[in-house]
Amino acid sequence: MPEEKIVKSGTPGLDEIFAIRGFKPRSSILVSGEPGAGKSILALQFIYNGARLYGEAGVFVTSEQSVEKVRETARSVGMGLEQFEKNGLVTLLKVPVMKGGEMMPEELFRHIRRGDVKRAAIDSITPFEYLTSDMKDFRLKLLTFVEMITKENTTLLVTADKRKTDFDNVEFNYEDFLFDGLILMGRMRKAVSFERVLTVIKMRGTEHSSDLHPVEISEKGLIVRTLQEL
Ligand SMILES: Nc1ncnc2c1ncn2[C@@H]1O[C@H](COP(=O)(O)OP(=O)(O)O)[C@@H](O)[C@H]1O
Ligand SMILES: [Mg+2]
Repeated sequence: MPEEKIVKSGTPGLDEIFAIRGFKPRSSILVSGEPGAGKSILALQFIYNGARLYGEAGVFVTSEQSVEKVRETARSVGMGLEQFEKNGLVTLLKVPVMKGGEMMPEELFRHIRRGDVKRAAIDSITPFEYLTSDMKDFRLKLLTFVEMITKENTTLLVTADKRKTDFDNVEFNYEDFLFDGLILMGRMRKAVSFERVLTVIKMRGTEHSSDLHPVEISEKGLIVRTLQEL
């Protein structure tokens, strides 16, 4: 079998954390962390860079913001999604969780079954969890969802909200075990200020750095630093 092409996030500094310089095709990655850590921007960049740098089609599913808000957020960090929505490489889907929207929207699967969607991002799965009283049902749905997407030719990045990210003492949830990869994002005290950081807890199929990597967000986007750079 020919070597499979690595799926690059295109986020500066992130792919270099992994020995294979990106994600394995058809892997599932959970990006978990506290509010404001940069999860949504990271997920957006995964889809945007897929289109812009690698010509790959992607679907971004939002359960939290309106599609227009997503475009706005993207714009504030230098990403113009509209051009790629027009040429079909980027699709934004809103799942109305409060109105009983499904974790697995039929529309997402229509896109994925077409076979040309290489990347999917779900931002975030947490509202689905909060709105069900049946955790067994939630877990089963999540498991089915991840399997259905990654058995197609799609690499899946999902965000989840953590109430607290204590890097010295991480508490793991059920969903943390379910994905091939787990990336944790949060803030750490640095003298009189806080610094955004990211660390990789696991990534099946590749070695990775175990450092706490500083994360910077500006109008140009989100970048990940390596300790050597500092
Ligand atoms: N243009 C920008 N310059 C600097 N920081 C920004 C910019 N746009 C957004 N941010 C920062 O990004 C944070 C939001 O990131 P986001 O990905 O939405 O976090 P999360 O999804 O983890 O809650 C905001 O708290 C804000 O501080
Ligand atoms: Mg978010």
